[in-house]
Amino acid sequence: MAVEIKKVKYLPELRRVAELADEIWHECFVDIISEGQIDYMVEKFQSLEAMIRQVEEQAYTYLAVYDDDDLCGYIAVKPEHDDRFFLSKLYLRVDKRGQGIARLMLERVFEEARKHGKSSVYLTVNKHNDHAVAVYKKAGFVLTDSVVTDIGGGYVMDDYIFTYVL
Ligand SMILES: CC(C)(COP(=O)(O)OP(=O)(O)OC[C@H]1O[C@@H](n2cnc3c(N)ncnc32)[C@H](O)[C@@H]1OP(=O)(O)O)[C@@H](O)C(=O)NCCC(=O)NCCS
Repeated sequence: MAVEIKKVKYLPELRRVAELADEIWHECFVDIISEGQIDYMVEKFQSLEAMIRQVEEQAYTYLAVYDDDDLCGYIAVKPEHDDRFFLSKLYLRVDKRGQGIARLMLERVFEEARKHGKSSVYLTVNKHNDHAVAVYKKAGFVLTDSVVTDIGGGYVMDDYIFTYVL
């Protein structure tokens, strides 16, 4: 296993990340939200067009995760205007889970946050996403809030907010 995590700089790679996002979201959220909500959220947040907007207009950075040159995961982060760093996306294809790659991904997130001079990293996670919640707790994140966000289309995101103090 040779894991490499690198910033996505060019459109063809971002397109491949969007394809991977589509695959992962339709696998990992089936027991948590409806198929209709998955389709809606992928289109709204993880389509290539949405990701380009996030990068160009909202200061998001996408990081691609490769294992032996196989694009198998991705991360999206964003510095806030205050002292916080937002971990927006942390996704790994199912066949690559449970192998220590998540820890490398989170270490990279903390490194990016420190580079930006931030003092904490926060994230939102669906309240029923038990595995991700366990992973974040194990990494040292603590529950700081919960939020229900209307995302349109008749859907809401029912999330916990977890925070990691750097
Ligand atoms: C979230 C995700 C990236 C985590 O990756 P993963 O490979 O499943 O994580 P791991 O199994 O390596 O677990 C990471 C750590 O949490 C620990 N852990 C996992 N499940 C645990 C549990 N139930 N209780 C306690 N610790 C647990 C592991 O032991 C590991 O600890 P270590 O780094 O000290 O060895 C991956 O599961 C994923 O992509 N899931 C689908 C998408 C998703 O839900 N993303 C988050 C959206 S907010």
